[in-house]
Amino acid sequence: MTPAPPAARQDVSNVLVVGSGAAGSRAAIAAYDEGVDVKVVGKRARNDAHTVLAAGGINAVLGTHDPDDSFEQHAADTLAEGYLLGDPRFVELLVEEAPRAIEELEEWGCAFARTEDGRIDQRYFGAHTYRRTCYAGDYTGRAIQNAVTERVASLGIDVVDHVYVSELLVEDGRCFGAMGFDVRTGERIVFLADAVVLAAGGHTRLWRRSSSRRDENTGDAMALALRAGATLADMELVQFHPTGMVHPEEWAGVLVTEAVRGEGGRLYNADGDRFMERYDPDRLELSTRDRVALANYTEIEEGRGGPNGGVYLDVSHIGRDALLEKLPRMYRQFLDTQMLDIASDPMEVAPTAHYSMGGVRVVPDTGETDVEGLFAAGEATAGLHGANRLGGNSLAETIVFGRRAGEAAAAFSNRQDVQLRSRAVLSAAHDALDALVSDGDEFARPLQRAVRNEVWRTAGVVRTEDTIDEGLARLREIREAASRVDVRPSSEGWGDLAHVLDLRAGLVAAEATLLGAKQRRETRGAHFRSDYPDLDADLRVRITVRLDVDGSLVTDQTAIPEIPDRLQPMVERAAGMDADAGRLLE
Ligand code: FUM
Repeated sequence: MTPAPPAARQDVSNVLVVGSGAAGSRAAIAAYDEGVDVKVVGKRARNDAHTVLAAGGINAVLGTHDPDDSFEQHAADTLAEGYLLGDPRFVELLVEEAPRAIEELEEWGCAFARTEDGRIDQRYFGAHTYRRTCYAGDYTGRAIQNAVTERVASLGIDVVDHVYVSELLVEDGRCFGAMGFDVRTGERIVFLADAVVLAAGGHTRLWRRSSSRRDENTGDAMALALRAGATLADMELVQFHPTGMVHPEEWAGVLVTEAVRGEGGRLYNADGDRFMERYDPDRLELSTRDRVALANYTEIEEGRGGPNGGVYLDVSHIGRDALLEKLPRMYRQFLDTQMLDIASDPMEVAPTAHYSMGGVRVVPDTGETDVEGLFAAGEATAGLHGANRLGGNSLAETIVFGRRAGEAAAAFSNRQDVQLRSRAVLSAAHDALDALVSDGDEFARPLQRAVRNEVWRTAGVVRTEDTIDEGLARLREIREAASRVDVRPSSEGWGDLAHVLDLRAGLVAAEATLLGAKQRRETRGAHFRSDYPDLDADLRVRITVRLDVDGSLVTDQTAIPEIPDRLQPMVERAAGMDADAGRLLE
């Protein structure tokens, strides 16, 4: 029997943060520090947000080993790696404020690895001119999440776990909270707030091979923002990490951190050929992520992969003690899942969808979206990375831009005289949830799997106009089936309702991705169109997507600000290392 949902509870704060990972937690701390009342709501347990999966490190110019490093060089590497689609203002803020982020995290208890003389150690990551990636073993995200979670707790900020946000509440273009329900009990909670910060992650779980876990990074943040009236940008720009696990099946896609290559790991194909010598003889395994991913993909597609459909990543020359010190999670992960001792045998790896470089369009300094009172930060947003992301920049992004969004949301709240609420909007949000709870002849899980298979096939490492069109047509069929999903809450919980909402959100985010991928008729960074294999300098634009009144998605293009003159020579040098990005600057 379907239990009736308990009556809705109301919860009022000045600032509501949706998402309890590093970006959301940092936003909450910032808002609290500005003197306003803050509430955080997350889908998972707060100490298990997606941030804990981030492994290899967080970038900041500290010059521990390389005193010649500079903010300008970090900015130039980031812009060049993004094939000039990163917004220079975003990049400038990131590089200048990342050292402060490291200081804060240390102060809050994040135990970064140290050099013998006690300074914060920094490791190599791909495509960085200098070593600037600070780390805690290969569980840096876990160390950061623990630090921000404890800081949030020590300030007494209220965090509500296991709540699925079904809708942002918007009246006349102004956001005033969110509707959510507890996935264990079905209890509805109406969160009323002056301002909302959306920090609920990306959409990479929509690909069959993904480094995200089930029910996270499902595109729900993007769908919530779209429905609220915000604009998405760069949805087609999705980073494939070169090295995900390939077996056993339930572990396929799980991250094998770039720190493995940063610490000296080498890639080989089944013929024993160290193939990166052919793809990027200078940087080898520490080439740009898009290149290494495409190289791995090509070796596998051309029949030079191993028995489980991967290439080999070998660290046997490094030594067990060093592996246990620098890569302890990887060492245990392969022992636990495959009984493989990476100190003696190579890992088998293949590309996996890893990071959404697109998302909600925001103002760099404040995280403001196109909706009044709605701010966003972290992987849910677009604009910083462009067409390819420097490894280690995302953790820095969460802290730098989480803080900025939290401060801006608090300032917005402080400017309000009265708190908005609309009974009509609330009633519609309740009705929308009620309407989903019904018998049906479809189930969410198989349809989610169908979306993931389709997105992997049609918008994977390599795309063409034909595959994209096939993907769009197939999504239409799945959308029709998704209207007939059986949602049957029971004493086991309200997971069905969360799954159908994730399915619907995923369909919207997948369509936005395919529409962007169709429009970007060029190859640039992680967006590899085999039917348009060259860069098109005229496409140094953002492809945007918004929801029309009739419910359809509408695409457009917007310009990207020019790179400041003072950065040009360094960007040219950094991009010059990459033939394709270099060509853009000719
Ligand atoms: O491979 C990694 O550890 C991933 C880092 C990142 O995406 O920044």
